[in-house]
Amino acid sequence: METVKTIAIDGPSASGKSTVSKGVAAELGFIYVDSGALYRGVTWNAIRQGVDTKNAAAVVDSMLNAEWEFFVKDGAATFSVGGDIPVQELREKDVREAVAGVAAMPGVRKFVVENLQALENFGSLVMEGRDIGTVVFPGSPYKFYLDADPEERAMRRYRELVEAGEDEKAHEVMESLKKRDQIDSTRKTDPLKVAEGAHVIDSTSMGIEEVIQTIIETVQGAA
Ligand code: DC
Repeated sequence: METVKTIAIDGPSASGKSTVSKGVAAELGFIYVDSGALYRGVTWNAIRQGVDTKNAAAVVDSMLNAEWEFFVKDGAATFSVGGDIPVQELREKDVREAVAGVAAMPGVRKFVVENLQALENFGSLVMEGRDIGTVVFPGSPYKFYLDADPEERAMRRYRELVEAGEDEKAHEVMESLKKRDQIDSTRKTDPLKVAEGAHVIDSTSMGIEEVIQTIIETVQGAA
């Protein structure tokens, strides 16, 4: 059996992680994993059960009482919760606004980290997130930290939201991004930071394809 390789790609919101990670996974034939989707799934499941998302004990309770299943579909790891597969729901405003708080809860992080680690049973992964190189797969030799200037990230996120038909104002997107950056990088449990040995890539003035190729060349050079 070929050894499983996991490529960890961390960075702040709207740094281009998703597009880049999907591109790297497609080119290498690895399974793409959006770890943030699982934090969003926990948040969505709590909201639909009428749980107060600021109450950590109640959120953890609703999470542990739900039935979660993980599988690979179209080259990406995905999950169902209570028999439902949320996709679009995970991007909605109520989830978006509550998820950073939920992702800061130690009980939630423990559950998510364990489930993310178990995904290696499916094969080689490209996993994007905030703590993949620091906590989930610290032993991976393929760690990347993708960054971009806050203004550029806010512009990218704004364009994405407009394309998705959301009625958002550019300055509100900037504010909400700043707020999430602040929560993600200052929380007590597993804050966003550059992992030891990670390759830092500033994508502010790089094209997506250039970033993808930089990562692939680094991985192949290290192999
Ligand atoms: O990448 P995203 O925007 O879907 O992430 C949603 C939230 O989950 C965000 O607040 C950061 C958090 N997150 C995290 O704490 N650790 C991860 N590995 C991935 C996401």
